[in-house]
Amino acid sequence: MSTQVVRVGIIGGGLMGRELASAIGRWFVLDGVAPLPVLVGVADPNPKALGWFHRIPSVEHLVDDYHQLLATDVDVIYAAVPHDLHDQVYCDVLAAGKDLLAEKPFGIDLTSAQRIVAACEKSGRFVRCSSEFPFFPGALRVYQTLQNGHLGELLEVNASFLHSSDLDLAKPINWKRQVRTCGEAGVMNDLGLHVVHLPFRAGLLPERVYAQLQNVVKTRPDGKGGMADCDTWDNATLTATLPNGVPMRLETKRLAPGQINSWSLEVIGTRGGVKFSTKQPKTLWTYQTAPEVGWVQTDLGHASVFPVATGGIFEFGFPDALLQMFASFLVERTGVLEDRFGCATPTEALLSHALWAAAMKSHETQQVENVT
Ligand SMILES: NC(=O)c1ccc[n+]([C@@H]2O[C@H](COP(=O)([O-])OP(=O)(O)OC[C@H]3O[C@@H](n4cnc5c(N)ncnc54)[C@H](O)[C@@H]3O)[C@@H](O)[C@H]2O)c1
Repeated sequence: MSTQVVRVGIIGGGLMGRELASAIGRWFVLDGVAPLPVLVGVADPNPKALGWFHRIPSVEHLVDDYHQLLATDVDVIYAAVPHDLHDQVYCDVLAAGKDLLAEKPFGIDLTSAQRIVAACEKSGRFVRCSSEFPFFPGALRVYQTLQNGHLGELLEVNASFLHSSDLDLAKPINWKRQVRTCGEAGVMNDLGLHVVHLPFRAGLLPERVYAQLQNVVKTRPDGKGGMADCDTWDNATLTATLPNGVPMRLETKRLAPGQINSWSLEVIGTRGGVKFSTKQPKTLWTYQTAPEVGWVQTDLGHASVFPVATGGIFEFGFPDALLQMFASFLVERTGVLEDRFGCATPTEALLSHALWAAAMKSHETQQVENVT
């Protein structure tokens, strides 16, 4: 296997920019993955954010204007900027002829996502959207169970992503809590693609939706001694319907007591069920009907999409999922992913926006709305 060096640039050196850089930093743990990413540049107008990347010896360009990074010979851009910038930044990346791993929600709203998807098609570049939770071993087992049809006829699907730090009313406002920068879909823009990526990939595509949206915390400290409007949806509870009438409950919540960052998926069928939550990261629950009825708990090891040097019995976590996701992006980019799990596609991200748009309409009309 010959190594293929991929020159990577990051636009947006905040929380996720640093996470991606850290994943690249421990690439050597992967076995048998040919692409070798090298982080060569970062663009961010915030000097403090940019300064963090001085610790990475391979970085050649630290710039405040991302156009300067696009003018270099980077092959791939990872873009992790506030949602109101997705449209412009992603389209500029594609126009510059670079491949793109874009952060969710892939545009601030449905119209913006449609523009980005059109730009993807026009450019012919390889583009995927970030969603790492399906790379947890337990999530992959849920996916495999769905694929092999062992559950019988599906009865229900329940997926959620729950946070609780917003229950702290003294937590200062940030761009994710304001419509102008996060988008009208609020918490669905923030957490929603994580919830639907795996179900969509398994062919569970909702036709209709009824939504209950809550904006409970309406102001937050602005960090300058005053208060600022906090006008996004905090919690979204969606009851969607699959084409065969199967209910699919989708919850994205910032106000969920006791949940720090819990991603969960449960699928129940007539012959069995399967569920996994990152709250118990090595536990897979399987519902069995024989020889006795009940949920059986299985301890999982460190088995994700790509083999790693990490001990097979060691626990899997968020940084591992991000590493696997970026490996999947780079391997799929070279056309050799085969049947291994892949990152969310532009089409899946667009479909998620269509679902949030229908959900917002449903909340307004208090009716079930079609997802179009
Ligand atoms: N995949 C995940 O698990 C996950 C987790 C958190 C956030 N996200 C997504 O990642 C993206 C960024 O979120 P974050 O939490 O890293 O935010 P952040 O606020 O920590 O970082 C955003 C960075 O973008 C920079 N920025 C602003 N304008 C810029 C510009 N014109 N050019 C370059 N950089 C610019 C900011 O200075 C900041 O450093 C969002 O789309 C968010 O939804 C994904």
